[in-house]
Amino acid sequence: MLRVPLSRAPAKAWMQQVIYPHLVKSSVRGLACENNPQNLPKQPVPKLEDTMKKYLRSVTPLLTCEEHCRTTNLVEEFQCSETARKLQNYLEQRAKCKLNWLEEWWLNTAYLGFRYPVVVHSSPSQSIPFETFNSEDDRLLYTSKLILAALSYKMIIDQKKMPVDKQGKFELDMDQYNRIFGTCRIPKMPLDGIEYNQKSTHIIVMHKNHFFKLTVFYDCKPLSQKQLFEHLKCIISQSCDKATPIGVLSSDHRDNWAKYYQDLCEGNDEALCNIQQSLFLVCIDDAMPGCDQEYPNKQTKGGYQTIHGGGSCANGGNRWFDKTVQFVIGCDGVLGITYEHSPSEGQPIAYMVDYLYNFIKKDCGKDVPDNAKNEGPTKLCFTASDTTVCNIRKAEDNLNKLVDNFSLKCFKFEGYGKDFIKKQKLSPDSYCQMAMQYAFYKMYGVPGAHYESAATRKFVGGRTETIRSCSIGSLAFAEAMLDCCKSDAEKVEALRTAIDEHKRYTIMALEGQGVDRHLLGLRLAAKDMGIDVPCIFLDEGFTRSTNFLLSTSQVATKCDAVMGYGPSSPEGYGCCYNPRDNDINFAVSCFNDCSTTDVEQFENCLCECLNDMRTVLTNTHKSKM
Ligand code: COA
Repeated sequence: MLRVPLSRAPAKAWMQQVIYPHLVKSSVRGLACENNPQNLPKQPVPKLEDTMKKYLRSVTPLLTCEEHCRTTNLVEEFQCSETARKLQNYLEQRAKCKLNWLEEWWLNTAYLGFRYPVVVHSSPSQSIPFETFNSEDDRLLYTSKLILAALSYKMIIDQKKMPVDKQGKFELDMDQYNRIFGTCRIPKMPLDGIEYNQKSTHIIVMHKNHFFKLTVFYDCKPLSQKQLFEHLKCIISQSCDKATPIGVLSSDHRDNWAKYYQDLCEGNDEALCNIQQSLFLVCIDDAMPGCDQEYPNKQTKGGYQTIHGGGSCANGGNRWFDKTVQFVIGCDGVLGITYEHSPSEGQPIAYMVDYLYNFIKKDCGKDVPDNAKNEGPTKLCFTASDTTVCNIRKAEDNLNKLVDNFSLKCFKFEGYGKDFIKKQKLSPDSYCQMAMQYAFYKMYGVPGAHYESAATRKFVGGRTETIRSCSIGSLAFAEAMLDCCKSDAEKVEALRTAIDEHKRYTIMALEGQGVDRHLLGLRLAAKDMGIDVPCIFLDEGFTRSTNFLLSTSQVATKCDAVMGYGPSSPEGYGCCYNPRDNDINFAVSCFNDCSTTDVEQFENCLCECLNDMRTVLTNTHKSKM
């Protein structure tokens, strides 16, 4: 059994002290939602006493009695302090004068001020069901269909024909859809910028590290599939040899990239503008390193290809990692999206994947007529100074180290899916979360701090809140499952109690009444007001409960796909999952320089746990009959 030390390195920068509340004022809601077109409610600022009470409960399974006592004292002291009153008041005032008190802070802290490379650390991969290509023409034909499908999706968004997402009877904020196309991050220190170019009419196609600008809309109408196909053929014929991999610069640590960028801008303004202002990128890739047998399965190979491109020897330079959407088309039929996380959550991207998949399957693009206007692709020319050439080598080295240090495993749990769980009258999402808690406890003998994303899009400008899935109930459930003196009925009871507790937290999080965003707000308020970081944030309870050893999200597609991303803690796991009716797709990741984590072991343990859970449920059900 492996053991994870629970108090070491902190997780993502936004969970630490690196916070820049003031620096970017213009980056959010520069678009349609300056106002509130859907007339959505405003995200509340939770009451301080409520958050403190929930916080103390959430840290209980992670602390010893003595540690919990200390944390309780600190929380009680803080709660009655003048500082807490001032900070809370600051948040409440902010909420009165902003559309969403958190939105800009969140963008700056979680994304634009997060300085790790976006590769692995922030930008997820999203698979699209793979294809079989019998020839290069086959691949280009598919690519032209994919481009047309994406353009059709863009038109639906622009024409406001998207069905409004709902949570029960509540409408969700649709603004994230407006930012999928045309958005680009701009490297800057200490905080990146972000640009929105919704009215753009061109895309960038990349092949062998070359960039080609292709205008795809004329007079608001797209090119036809045939026209796109011809242009793609022309692009391939103009890029037989590999070009200097300018794109790899965007894979580096954001401060490095911001420095490289200053040099790159000299003489390359036009090419950079064309990339940044494009609707999206299409990356026609070379083969990944190694043969197929070196990967556990094709899904995993595809996951690596879309998360990091396989390093400098493969497709690491055939990217512009600042672009929100990059479609990746592998030569062996691997398909996916690398998506830069700043402007949108995973779910709108996943809905797009279902749309693209159906559009292509039904061959909806075949009826789009030729566009009367139609210009060919233009190759973008870069001049690379000696400094830039040297920077490219540095970025390649750094990317290769990251690639070597990253492990991913995409797999399908085929035992059952949502249908079985619903028949047990249990919430599928809470059930999956409890399976992960159980697996972690079974592997390490201790519970792990556990992050799950919950959408707060029922509020204008809402993004996410953390569901703290590690709970008193989840620990009792994991202990019960491993206790051979407990009957199956007792284990099932512990499971139901844990799921109820998780579901209650989920509902609070969806209502904007979780713990983590409020705590972040209080810290940012302190920073804004020049007040020292309150002691509750320097305490073991806070450090341990925010060093998320499990960083998880449900991202659902109907088609057979999965999203993947890196862990948020150097000693933890990333685990994204897609529960479908009769199976569950997972993508589990960890870092190789951590001696205690292992994706294969976690996969095996998680599948065992899911099977154990079914066994106790079916045994209990049978014994009742
Ligand atoms: N008995 C029977 N059925 C149940 C049930 C029960 N006790 N509890 C739930 N169900 C059903 C639900 O009615 C729902 O049915 P549907 O498939 O017909 O709609 C289904 O099971 C799924 O519900 P559940 O698993 O409880 O939760 P969810 O799908 O609503 O997901 C969250 C919960 C938190 C994941 C979701 O609200 C959310 O926020 N998603 C976004 C996450 C995100 O942002 N990810 C991206 C991060 S980049």
